[in-house]
Amino acid sequence: IMKKNQTHISEFLLLGLPIQPEHQNLFYALFLAMYLTTILGNLLIIVLICLDSHLQTPMYLFLRNLSFSDLCFSCVTMPKLLQNMQSPGPSIPYAGCLTQIYFFIFFGHLGNFILVAMAYDRYVAICFPLHYTTIMSPKLCLSLVVFSWVLTTFYSLLHTLLLPRLSFCADNVIPHFFCEISALLKLACSDTRVNELVILVVGGIFAVIPFLLILLSYTKIVSSILKVPSARGIYKVFSTCGSHLSVVSLFYGTIIGLYLCPSANNSTVKDTVMALMYTVVTPMLNPFIYSLRNRDIKGALRRVLCRKKFLF
Ligand SMILES: *[C@@H]1O[C@H](CO)[C@@H](O)[C@H](O)[C@H]1NC(C)=O
Repeated sequence: IMKKNQTHISEFLLLGLPIQPEHQNLFYALFLAMYLTTILGNLLIIVLICLDSHLQTPMYLFLRNLSFSDLCFSCVTMPKLLQNMQSPGPSIPYAGCLTQIYFFIFFGHLGNFILVAMAYDRYVAICFPLHYTTIMSPKLCLSLVVFSWVLTTFYSLLHTLLLPRLSFCADNVIPHFFCEISALLKLACSDTRVNELVILVVGGIFAVIPFLLILLSYTKIVSSILKVPSARGIYKVFSTCGSHLSVVSLFYGTIIGLYLCPSANNSTVKDTVMALMYTVVTPMLNPFIYSLRNRDIKGALRRVLCRKKFLF
């Protein structure tokens, strides 16, 4: 009997979204449209920043990194979600599950660190405008990006490498639309205390420190404006930080909503909706937030389009 219980599970079933069968096609079309919008919007930002010589500033290089990270982040979950909505027995092999967890954590946190670098960049731009180019040197920008990559690599490796030591018994149904680490831990029939401790402690540190750093940057920005309050100063903050602040609010708004709101009895539905928010909606909206509010990006788009017309 023990042997039978310890069957080796080689694949998991993803339950997917709690959608009625008659609405399946509608949601499929919706998610496909959102996925394509995410890909095209972020690609457009990346291409524009590569092509336009006016956008070679640290802020836009960070934005290109953010778009790249958003693009990859939506590629981690969306293709599988779309495929699963069409196939009758949505399953994912164990290795696929681990890969998805690794890249989900990686690109989720990479975006977070890029937002910190962008906040620091805005802080220097507002508080030390005269020294901006010397402080935000290409070397420092590259170091910040490389540091983010190294840190997130170790962080997601830590989470992923702790998973193979778990054993899974009979239950292999994940009530989610992607391999979510905590949903996977619930299925394990061995001791998951170490994993949970790491998620709580290291995950908490990795969520709180970037948030505090961003908060610190904006506190300094606001206090430097309040020293000499003027309409021009406030306008300057909104025009230079508005886009970044919107992205940060969207990012942390969903995370705070997910973890701090008390979950009702049908928490699976709430978890799924919140997960859709940060896997589908946030990466899709970031390029729009930046391009709609931003004169530089609009100008670059106009210049690129005009140059194309001129060429043909
Ligand atoms: C990320 O930022 C660094 C430093 O600013 C830059 O050199 C690099 O090209 C950017 N990477 C991407 C993918 O945009």
